[in-house]
Amino acid sequence: MATVYISFSALILLFPLALLLLLYFLVRPRPARVPIKNRHVFITGGSSGIGLALAHLCAQHGADVSLLARSAAKLEEAKQSIKLATGRDVRIFSADVRDYDAVRTAVEDAGPIDVLVCNQGVFVPQELADQDLEEIKFMIDVNLTGTFHLIRAALPAMKKSRAERGPGSIAIMSSQAGQVGIYGYAAYSASKFGLKGLAEALQHEVIADNIHISLIFPPDTETPGFAEENKRRPQLTSIIAASSGAMKAEEVAKKSLDGIQSGTFIVPCNFEGYLLSIATAGLSPQRSYLMAFVEVITAGLVRLAALCFQWNWYRSIEKWHTKK
Ligand SMILES: NC(=O)c1ccc[n+]([C@@H]2O[C@H](COP(=O)([O-])OP(=O)(O)OC[C@H]3O[C@@H](n4cnc5c(N)ncnc54)[C@H](OP(=O)(O)O)[C@@H]3O)[C@@H](O)[C@H]2O)c1
Repeated sequence: MATVYISFSALILLFPLALLLLLYFLVRPRPARVPIKNRHVFITGGSSGIGLALAHLCAQHGADVSLLARSAAKLEEAKQSIKLATGRDVRIFSADVRDYDAVRTAVEDAGPIDVLVCNQGVFVPQELADQDLEEIKFMIDVNLTGTFHLIRAALPAMKKSRAERGPGSIAIMSSQAGQVGIYGYAAYSASKFGLKGLAEALQHEVIADNIHISLIFPPDTETPGFAEENKRRPQLTSIIAASSGAMKAEEVAKKSLDGIQSGTFIVPCNFEGYLLSIATAGLSPQRSYLMAFVEVITAGLVRLAALCFQWNWYRSIEKWHTKK
């Protein structure tokens, strides 16, 4: 009986070790580092909010930063604020990501890019039945098609210059609404869910070129865009989103930069984001055998937590309709 007990305990101890060892050899792509210092980081939507905070951080880390957005005045203001804070010069490009020719010209003028951050985004929440078709198209065009435009314009030169310039990165700013659909976000979520398919397929296509994709999933973040969005939020969206507090743009920028530098594919920004990334890992690439271990071990429990969240959200919706 004692022998059986000892072998059972040994098995319990050995299982995690064996799993860790298996995952160490299994995870793909292999871990990578993407340095930032003295490298060209091109950030879209870099004149405001998360993009601006990331631009400051990259400049602090010694990167050569380029910014792209529509408003030349806001870009100039961002440029001056970074110069004042870090002493570094920033190049600015005024273009609308919906205009492919303008994007291509800006990318060509900027010169070889090492890290492309597709951060531009617009978010106008509303129930789909009432939302203007133009507004729906606007979100898809800026968030999804605009990101295609940027990557398509920058990729050929990025691929060509890797051998001489070292590892490259394409970071794509999604949202927690790109991991789970929430009331009022049908169009926004669709535009952000689309980015996941783009990122997963693209990582297959560029891994041999030493280019690493990071897909970043911020929660609500205090930015000018968020302040505008709040004015239009349906009441139920606010009730459902209330469970998670808002982060500061600087905190999200720090998580984003850490994710980019470590070549992490899925980049969560807070604890809830970690749970979401485990719950939605699916067939996503995973470079870290430790994170893969956590995903495998906690999958069932995290699914249970996800079902509790859904229960809570549907209960809120039912209550709200009953009250109405
Ligand atoms: N804040 C949040 O709660 C939150 C949460 C999750 C994810 N995100 C995502 O994070 C990203 C940044 O959001 P944010 O809150 O920092 O937004 P923000 O403060 O509104 O800044 C948006 C930036 O994108 C630029 N932009 C917008 N439309 C553009 C276009 N058509 N072409 C080129 N540039 C354009 C804006 O400049 P111009 O207007 O001058 O063009 C601005 O620089 C977005 O992708 C957003 O979806 C935000």
